[in-house]
Amino acid sequence: EPSLDNIRLKAKFGIGAAVTNSELNGQYANTLRTHFSQITGEYEMKMAHIWKGENNYDWTAADGMVNFAATNNMDVHGHTLVWYNSFPNWFRNANYDSATFETKIKTYIETVVGRYKGKVISWDVANEIFNDDGTLRRDGCPVFRTFNDPIAFYGRCFEYAQAADPDAKLFYNDYNVVLAAGKRGAMRQMVNRFRADGYPIDGLGDQFHYMASTNRTTIRNGLTDLASTGLQIHMSELDIRINVNKDDNFVYLPSEQAKHAEAYKDFVTFFEAIPQSQKFAITTWGVSDKRTWLTSWWHPKEYPLLFDENFQKKKTYEGFLEGL
Ligand code: XIL
Repeated sequence: EPSLDNIRLKAKFGIGAAVTNSELNGQYANTLRTHFSQITGEYEMKMAHIWKGENNYDWTAADGMVNFAATNNMDVHGHTLVWYNSFPNWFRNANYDSATFETKIKTYIETVVGRYKGKVISWDVANEIFNDDGTLRRDGCPVFRTFNDPIAFYGRCFEYAQAADPDAKLFYNDYNVVLAAGKRGAMRQMVNRFRADGYPIDGLGDQFHYMASTNRTTIRNGLTDLASTGLQIHMSELDIRINVNKDDNFVYLPSEQAKHAEAYKDFVTFFEAIPQSQKFAITTWGVSDKRTWLTSWWHPKEYPLLFDENFQKKKTYEGFLEGL
């Protein structure tokens, strides 16, 4: 039974990877085709990369990955429409009043979601709007400083996305969701409010940038709690850090590789435990250890993914398979 040793074939939900358009060739592309069923742009669909000026959209990279997906029969998950960190400077610095701000964002959402209608099956409409304690993020967040009721603004963003592509699944995405009860509570309140006020939402993502040492019980219980919203669940940016002490002399020994594989197995097992109808996808944030955002953000010696620098399956891949 060949499907039993391939994660894409074995999984009964999406298996995604964050990709960069410029790398979509050679072994990188072959690995994606063989082991993954969907892709997400690591930056290609972020606002600052697309929206160069009010009437100036750069589609080059986003189109590239959408075309790659179409050619290879893969789905695209769009990331992300509204993220405090990716407002282009020309927009951020304009200090628009709330009505002007919203008109422009509405146009942006309609333009982007409309362009990829039927080609991007799902969107992170909003990303990282809460702090871990459940309060709204203030620092560097143009939405927070512009709106008295930011949640209602985000609700309308979900509406604009739905109007532009009624079939797209619409997600709210954040990090530390299964660890931080405060953030999860705020997300639940937002979902309840959306339901009460008639704003659409289909799913919730937890990025899952965790460590091999992250407490298993907390993750399992957090996922169960998240799934009790009844929404689709996306493990949306999975990578697992192993060099947790940022040790410059760290060596990725077989014993460390085994720990890494074990962590993947456990996380996938917990995802499998939520109701089948709510499993949207597991997306790893990258393809191989050759290039990962963690080597700049975390530590140069980091080995977070399923494939090694030569695109060979790591023991971690077996761990993922065992969890399925
Ligand atoms: C990161 C990318 O991986 C980097 O290449 C980029 O420079 C910055 O953004 N949470 C998110 C992602 O939602 O969009 C981030 O991606 C990682 C953290």
